[in-house]
Amino acid sequence: MTRSSQAGAAVGPTRDAVSDRLLRGSVRKSYAPVVDIDWDAALDPDKFFLPPTVVSLYGTPMWDAMTRQQQIELSRQELVNTLSAGIWFENILNQALLRDLMHADPTSNATHYALTEMGDETRHMVMFGKAIERLGAKPVQPRRYQRVMINGLPLAFKGSLLWVAALVGEEIFDSLQRQMMDDPELQPMVQRLMRIHVTEEARHIQFARDGVRRRVREMPRLHRMWVANLNGVGGLFFRFLFTNPVPYRRAGLDGREARRVARRSPHRHEVQISGFAPLAAFLEEVGLMGPLARRLWRRTNFLPVATSPTVSHGDPAAAGDHETYEGPAVLRIADEDHAVRVRLAGHLDPIDGRFHWRGTVHGRLPDDALRRPEALLTANGRTAAARLTERTQQGDYSIAGLGTPPFA
Ligand SMILES: [Fe+2]
Ligand SMILES: [Fe+2]
Repeated sequence: MTRSSQAGAAVGPTRDAVSDRLLRGSVRKSYAPVVDIDWDAALDPDKFFLPPTVVSLYGTPMWDAMTRQQQIELSRQELVNTLSAGIWFENILNQALLRDLMHADPTSNATHYALTEMGDETRHMVMFGKAIERLGAKPVQPRRYQRVMINGLPLAFKGSLLWVAALVGEEIFDSLQRQMMDDPELQPMVQRLMRIHVTEEARHIQFARDGVRRRVREMPRLHRMWVANLNGVGGLFFRFLFTNPVPYRRAGLDGREARRVARRSPHRHEVQISGFAPLAAFLEEVGLMGPLARRLWRRTNFLPVATSPTVSHGDPAAAGDHETYEGPAVLRIADEDHAVRVRLAGHLDPIDGRFHWRGTVHGRLPDDALRRPEALLTANGRTAAARLTERTQQGDYSIAGLGTPPFA
């Protein structure tokens, strides 16, 4: 399916119906972190506060030179940095939502859900603040010039830009938290916090994605180009946040040197690419990944480089026009995105004249994935329709597609 045909595709239920479903979901499952987290439980001195593989220096010589206690301390400081940024972000989002509601219909389900979301975010801010306190750390405060910018953002986030900004702020954290929360190396308190956050954010993301899908169809061309390219600034913001020198210094490292090492780490790039993959797939799907944005996300290592090092183009004469791709991808099944790794190969069939591709999906999928085998696979910035064909003995999935493959 082409990008433009997807952007113009029917959006299904009305905004009101989507909001009604989310409101009912909120009644069924919401948390009060003040009582839903055991704040008095002792922290395990030998456990990490972020899974080691998600700490920014993991996989570098600098990381290997650190003692386990130093590594744990850096994970604690990086978690505090993320929680602090989470609080500012949720504050910005709530301000923008509240301004938007000033002019909205107070009787509509969409207004009621936006208010419910604000309530969730308010409780998340309490949860993050309590967590920082419980971790015995100081929150990371923005500098004066950063505060000026932060104060301006709620005024700028309006209409479609509000929903895209919400997705940029929510989805990258969300997909990383989904990958992290079951890690046995992680402090149980942090696991619980992430589980609570992921549950409630899933509804926020659905609400924002629905908002984007609806608006994108009616957006004037220029406005659409603006939103489609402006979102790339998110890459600069996240690169700044994820390599902020403050946590390094607090963990006793040289802040500048650690930032330089983290920004060049191939493992770190992979973590960022897998964290951004679900949102990248969505922005591609709705036609909001403009060329400038793509370049910015790529430059900040949230998208693989243009010619992915893992894409190999076989010698046509020797390999019979075979192409392969190995790397991160996003598999969408029944409207849910799953970050996976794939190994794919394809060839042009001389009999039917079409491109056939197939391969293996590594990653956790829902138990009933094979009963809903139709999927959308996005890899290396391209999306294609795919079909899960079987579960392998090694616990992976086989996948196949016909036509343009999801890799260059
Ligand atoms: Fe939140
Ligand atoms: Fe949220």
